[in-house]
Amino acid sequence: MVTGAAGNLGRAVVATLAGRDICLVCVDRSSEELEAFARTLPPKARVLTFAGADLSDPIVAQAMVEAAVDRFGRVDAMVNTIGGFATGPVTTHALAQWDMMMTLNARVALVTSVAVLPVMQAASYGRIVHIAAVPGLKAGAHQAAYAASKAAVIRLTESIAAEHRNDGITANCILPGTIDTPQNRAAMPDAKTTAWVSSSSIAQLIAFLISPAAAVVTGGAIPATGLA
Ligand SMILES: NC(=O)c1ccc[n+]([C@@H]2O[C@H](COP(=O)([O-])OP(=O)(O)OC[C@H]3O[C@@H](n4cnc5c(N)ncnc54)[C@H](OP(=O)(O)O)[C@@H]3O)[C@@H](O)[C@H]2O)c1
Repeated sequence: MVTGAAGNLGRAVVATLAGRDICLVCVDRSSEELEAFARTLPPKARVLTFAGADLSDPIVAQAMVEAAVDRFGRVDAMVNTIGGFATGPVTTHALAQWDMMMTLNARVALVTSVAVLPVMQAASYGRIVHIAAVPGLKAGAHQAAYAASKAAVIRLTESIAAEHRNDGITANCILPGTIDTPQNRAAMPDAKTTAWVSSSSIAQLIAFLISPAAAVVTGGAIPATGLA
């Protein structure tokens, strides 16, 4: 199950897994973008799309899991790529941004985890991967809301890992550097992009983390910040 599947990283994760004969549940708030993307996948890929889903809503998240179980019988892994970025100083205007970042990054991570964990517990197997960010470890100026929301993702991941370490369920999060996306290129036209990370390289890391071979990796906040 890949949430945010119409986004930059979500698409890369889906594309990587589609080449590995894995049943895919692709979920996003968007409908048109998600359906258009799903049509680009290899015809042999086994894909369920769950479009128009606002995963800050627990009822929607529950419906997503039920649809996945109806179609494929279980959910082995959930990769939650939903998230976003905003900056601003700590002033009287910061509250709206705080609430927005907390919903987009932290609440969605909690809501999706709560929805998927019972199915994984019943199967005594599961892999959860969330996407945090380096400022979740230490914030810089104008990063209060973003950094706090990504710190919440890290702490949530650690807690899930600790609660389920005897259930065959792992939970990890990734701390990407700047991902090479069209949006980042447009926002930072003069940036040195050689220091950026490709979404496909992060997708390969995720593919390992959700594999049976990664059973010993849990509770991690794994940097994917590149070499430069
Ligand atoms: N891009 C970077 O440089 C970078 C760096 C560090 C960490 N990250 C993290 O990496 C992750 C992926 O980034 P990305 O660049 O792939 O982001 P993205 O392209 O914006 O993709 C996120 C996807 O999630 C969807 N979404 C947002 N809120 C949702 C909700 N409530 N319910 C369902 N779907 C929702 C978005 O739909 P809409 O288009 O409708 O919003 C979008 O399709 C995020 O957690 C981000 O914070 C990114």
